[in-house]
Amino acid sequence: MVRLDKFLSDCQKGTRSQVKNWIRGGQVKVNGSIEKDPGRKIGEDCDEVLLREEICRKRGFAYYMLNKPAGVVSATEDHLTDTVLAFFKDTLDRELFPVGRLDKDTTGLLLITNDGALAHRLLSPKRHVDKVYEVRIRKALTEDEIHRLESGVDIGEEKPTMPARVVVSGGAASDGKVIQMTIHEGKFHQIKRMLFAVDNEVTGLKRIAFGPVKLEDNLKEGAYRELTKEEVTALRQAAGLENASENT
Ligand code: URA
Repeated sequence: MVRLDKFLSDCQKGTRSQVKNWIRGGQVKVNGSIEKDPGRKIGEDCDEVLLREEICRKRGFAYYMLNKPAGVVSATEDHLTDTVLAFFKDTLDRELFPVGRLDKDTTGLLLITNDGALAHRLLSPKRHVDKVYEVRIRKALTEDEIHRLESGVDIGEEKPTMPARVVVSGGAASDGKVIQMTIHEGKFHQIKRMLFAVDNEVTGLKRIAFGPVKLEDNLKEGAYRELTKEEVTALRQAAGLENASENT
């Protein structure tokens, strides 16, 4: 929790004394109501602060999508090999970290941010944020195996996996060895272990969506771009930090 006047000056809206005057003058709303007390305590990630109807966020939060290549690890440091942060050497943003992990040999969408509260909520097992993967497999799945993956399989944990969604890519013309899988959890090696549980094997794995954010088609491996405002808002909604109806 932080004082409202400090929050607004941290957002670089004005000096501490300027923002105090604006607050006392009724120019600031907290969660839809005018707040005239500069000392009012607010939660930076859960309260909505408007200055003259404009939403205020602390500068310094940065949000990126990276198309992770194979061969780099999803960590902030590693003794032996490059981490995904090596791609961000030239940004001025501080304290970036990946939102969760992809295996070293997995490619595709990795969110990179310095917004710990958002990341924490997106990764919370309670939230069930969808992750979509394009999965290459050793052999085509039978209807029964698809049904088992969609019902939840035993991967050696206390409980079976939550039901997944499996779509065989390419329709009738495909050899059935490329599938799209949507999972709602993020257990260690989850996709590989799920396919192993139905006597198959992953030969290639790429994440193509994380919650509402989709990997941009023309983003090359190793390239990144900032998330749009809409994508950040959608992620905050998925994390339960923002109310969908407030943005319509
Ligand atoms: N499931 C896996 O097995 N590996 C990943 O990197 C992501 C999901």
